[in-house]
Amino acid sequence: MSSFRYPLDEIRDKCDLAEIVSGYVALRKRGRTLEGLCPFHNEKTPSFHVNSERQIWKCFGCGLGGDVFTFLQKIDNVTFPEAVESLARKAGITIERSEQAARQISEKERLLKVSNIACAFFRSMLSKSEEAQQYIEKRGLSAAIVEKYRLGYAPDSWDSLLDHLTMQKVSQSDALKAGLIISRENSPGFYDRFRDRLIFPILDSSERVIAFGGRVMGEGEPKYLNSPETPLFAKNKTLYGLNFARKSISAQDRLLIVEGYMDAISAQSAGFENTVATMGTALTEEHVNIIARFTRNVILSFDADSAGMAAAMRSYPIFERAGFNVRILSMPRGEDPDSVLRGGDSTRFASMLEKALPAPDYRVRAALARHDLGTDEGKVDALKDAAQVLAEIDSVMDRERLIRHLARLHPNFSTGTTLAEDHLRSEITKHRARASRQKHVSDWPNKKESVPQTANPQKKTSLIERSEWLLLGILMFRNLDASKVFEGVPAKEFSDEASRSLAEVVSRLYAQTGKIDRGVLRDEVVGTPAEDLLTDILVGFEDADANYNVDELVNVITKHNKNDKRRRLRSLADRIAAGEIKQGDAEYEEWRTLVEETSGPWRR
Ligand code: CTP
Ligand code: MN
Repeated sequence: MSSFRYPLDEIRDKCDLAEIVSGYVALRKRGRTLEGLCPFHNEKTPSFHVNSERQIWKCFGCGLGGDVFTFLQKIDNVTFPEAVESLARKAGITIERSEQAARQISEKERLLKVSNIACAFFRSMLSKSEEAQQYIEKRGLSAAIVEKYRLGYAPDSWDSLLDHLTMQKVSQSDALKAGLIISRENSPGFYDRFRDRLIFPILDSSERVIAFGGRVMGEGEPKYLNSPETPLFAKNKTLYGLNFARKSISAQDRLLIVEGYMDAISAQSAGFENTVATMGTALTEEHVNIIARFTRNVILSFDADSAGMAAAMRSYPIFERAGFNVRILSMPRGEDPDSVLRGGDSTRFASMLEKALPAPDYRVRAALARHDLGTDEGKVDALKDAAQVLAEIDSVMDRERLIRHLARLHPNFSTGTTLAEDHLRSEITKHRARASRQKHVSDWPNKKESVPQTANPQKKTSLIERSEWLLLGILMFRNLDASKVFEGVPAKEFSDEASRSLAEVVSRLYAQTGKIDRGVLRDEVVGTPAEDLLTDILVGFEDADANYNVDELVNVITKHNKNDKRRRLRSLADRIAAGEIKQGDAEYEEWRTLVEETSGPWRR
């Protein structure tokens, strides 16, 4: 470190670790330290500590820790010099860059500079375009909003940005890498990606421009054009508006998720600062992990069209799996948050927010909405539809709560609630039985096409082998709470040596780091009985394999174990009866343990 001429101590003194960290993590005071949910692993109880006196942080869950520089390095995924320089900038300290540091400053920083130049260019063009000015006014975007969100305009030209960048000594290769220009198809040279569009810069957590979205101002396709994936911009990890929303999400302990740029801007500007937009993409587990740093309470506020509904239906299970509390807001048909808020009436939006429903309730309501509840027939049809939805809800408590509510619609409601409720319950049971039969009969083990495609499928012939293979694969490829899975089926109860050994490593890795890094996993199992199985799963696991129901898989394994134990118990008992095993033998002890395990507490 001595080769850096950075005044590290001075920077450290001027930056308050707790303040920097709270930009990313909601911290609560607890004794002499501050506590929060660790941003580096998935957890539900806080084990991430910040000690302000000593200016250090440590997570007792995953073991990571360090000072303000290491925190920024890890959370923003930047190099040490980048972390130092960004903190120095914040603290108003000018620093000289050593040669070594200059070399370490990555391509990333160069591209950030390019994006920043482009952003300034677009902004300067805004006032020069009559059309853009009119559009901004039409959409109710005030000067303050334009300034805050750094809105701009890409001129109606093939090369105005390209020319500008060239003048600013930006290389074409950097402009290309930053996603700002596109290579001509039939001749050498490049042209501007964004032309005649209103520009929404996308900022990262340090408020640096990493990408752009551009909206056509008249008719035209696509409505929005976004930067491609670049070294700066990964769509599945970026949430529009998060930089402005962070503090408010932590403070309110809840987040509002909308679909569009305009929705986020309007919501934040109307006082709902804790809003981010997904930019129309599907929510990913990466998004969810980022959000989990700030809150576990989300409200999905997607458009009232079918795409928006579908997005909500796809998104909420990802949140629920990660232990979130999810509510879904019902938008009036044809509206989105921006259009609701545009009239300047934020109370209407606020009341919609308060009425947002838990996902199961939302789904039932949507089912009821398809029918005319004014007629008896309509009510019956609605109930049938609702029963179908209820059958898909796994939580008995949620089901019961909704059954009680739905019973009102039953034709016999007036003669007795119990009867109405029972009818619903039996309808639901029927659906569930049918669904689970279908799962068992058609999905596996017999039906060929739903047998998981693996590197060597002939190896996995039995249901138990396939189930364990799938479960381990899902744990490795899907970011879910592995500790919960291993509560259902402990690693030592996997059926053969390879799967047991792999399960043990997976379980340990998750307990230590809160995630399952496939690279680390690989290093850990080299030379163990799990090695071949791991390779097999890594090669053979396909996206569709993740559709298997984890609880179901756990059930198969647990059931198999139970049967196994019963068989073993019977054979031991026979041999005890035959006098082959005597008290004091190891197998006698095994029999006793098995008796206790399988017959429950009444034995004792
Ligand atoms: N989107 C996109 N590409 C498209 C269409 C949409 O990236 N071709 C993203 C944008 O981030 C957009 C969001 O999806 O903001 C939602 O799209 P949509 O509902 O169609 O647009 P609105 O946000 O309602 O846009 P506007 O109000 O400007 O019409
Ligand atoms: Mn809109």
